[in-house]
Amino acid sequence: MQPFELLLDQGTLATRIAELGDEISRDYAGKAIFLIGVLKGCFVFMADLIRHIDLSVEIEFLTASQFRKSSAPTELSFQGGPEVKVTGRHVLVVEGVVDTGHTVQVILKSLKEQEPASLEVVTLLDKPGSHRSKMEIKYRGFSVGNEFVIGFGLDNTQRYRNLPFVGRMSES
Ligand code: IMP
Ligand code: MG
Repeated sequence: MQPFELLLDQGTLATRIAELGDEISRDYAGKAIFLIGVLKGCFVFMADLIRHIDLSVEIEFLTASQFRKSSAPTELSFQGGPEVKVTGRHVLVVEGVVDTGHTVQVILKSLKEQEPASLEVVTLLDKPGSHRSKMEIKYRGFSVGNEFVIGFGLDNTQRYRNLPFVGRMSES
């Protein structure tokens, strides 16, 4: 038996991601946007999302893998290096899942210092019951409970990112 159960199937994910892309395309109509994906969990969602955004789009990735729930965050690093700048740009941070919100908060704080033209978050999954502080998440695919989710880019100890659906780890 698999150690997980189905939470969101492929069709449900595809429909909602298309809606998010349409919403973003409408909200930023006439503008160029800069999508910054938070590795590694963003990568499947972001690949699908950008194909539903009908705007001028540039992408970048950043790594925040040193974050742990209880520890102070360490440095963020752009895949494109320290020369990546967001000043004056319309920035959308792309996350796979927001849990406590620490990761997103640190990223937003850091990016704000560069004075982007606008700065918002799009996350496939959000766990509002786990947030440790007030969060501004403009675009969310789905709200889920305080459960550990996997698949569609999200891992449990680096496994299961390849599952084409979102599952929840079973109680064992
Ligand atoms: P934060 O607690 O919002 O800072 O989330 C930190 C990171 O933990 C996320 O970007 C994910 O990489 C990971 N994470 C949190 N909850 C889950 C989950 O349910 N499944 C897989 N990864 C998770
Ligand atoms: Mg992880």
